[in-house]
Amino acid sequence: MENEVQKKRILSGIQPSGDLTLGSYLGAIKNWAALADEYDCYYMLADMHTITVRQVPAELRRHTLTQVAAYIASGLDPEKNVLFVQSHVPAHAQLGWVLDCYTMFGELSRMTQFKDKSAKNADNINAGLFTYPCLMAADILLYQPDFVPVGEDQKQHVEICRDIATRFNGIYGDTFKLPDPYIPQVGARVMSLTSPEKKMSKSDKDPNGCVYMLEKPEDILRKFKRAITDSDTERCVRFDRENKPGVSNLMSIYSAVTGRSFEAIEAEFDGKGYGAFKPVVGEAVVEMLRPIQEETRRLLSDKAYLESVYRAGAEKASYVAEKTLRKVYKKVGFLAR
Ligand code: TRP
Repeated sequence: MENEVQKKRILSGIQPSGDLTLGSYLGAIKNWAALADEYDCYYMLADMHTITVRQVPAELRRHTLTQVAAYIASGLDPEKNVLFVQSHVPAHAQLGWVLDCYTMFGELSRMTQFKDKSAKNADNINAGLFTYPCLMAADILLYQPDFVPVGEDQKQHVEICRDIATRFNGIYGDTFKLPDPYIPQVGARVMSLTSPEKKMSKSDKDPNGCVYMLEKPEDILRKFKRAITDSDTERCVRFDRENKPGVSNLMSIYSAVTGRSFEAIEAEFDGKGYGAFKPVVGEAVVEMLRPIQEETRRLLSDKAYLESVYRAGAEKASYVAEKTLRKVYKKVGFLAR
């Protein structure tokens, strides 16, 4: 056989905790689709993470299936990418437990996401929320990936994953590859349309701050028309994250959608105010999403196909994951079955 160069591996995941947002699309999924030729890609729907916060069971199932359809509709070809559901691959829970035993109470207590989420869910600060980083470390380490594309907010989780892997490797010898977070050069960091200092998030209390991938065009347009712009006196379309966070957010969305540079956008709207800019961004987003929405709906009407995709995904993922798990079980001293 020809000496084929081993492609570098990528793994990432998004929780099916709600409808996917424009932020997940522009910041993650859209860029993932472009990586398939160069990398060996694994994309997981992290449903086991989702239940750290109480869910309505039927909704979780619907969000999970819809997310599979939206991944494919966004250009993630299931022949070229391994698309799978976390709970379909038992090795995640199995390695998660082992890693719980190699992670310290103190280091978990310092995680900012744990502190934030326990503040938001004061009546349900469960053990899963606390050990979440161990499960996420398992998600990653099972696949021995080179890169883990994540947003800023997840970098700390990739760091603790490296710490856990380093500790384990230190005790038992090389077992896990140390993954690097991969912050893509392209791809927008999409902020809330109503509070542009915060990341656009499906858990945002204000429904007008967040645009969903599958939202109706008229609702998307309305949200963009009402987007907060800045109270500076200049009133012109110019990129300045610090002093003009609202307009800068709209500019980076418009740039991600159209591929235009900030300079080109500034020139396009030179002499026109915010009022002219906002609906243009809204319409560009609607047009970008239109074919994805249609394809998602078409796929959702073909349940048998979606099932075949996530089943095949689980099979391919399990093959890789179990190999790592067997190694780990042996190293820690479990008797072979
Ligand atoms: N914790 C991530 C989030 O909430 C989702 C996630 C779970 C993930 N496991 C992962 C991301 C592994 C990257 C790699 O956004």
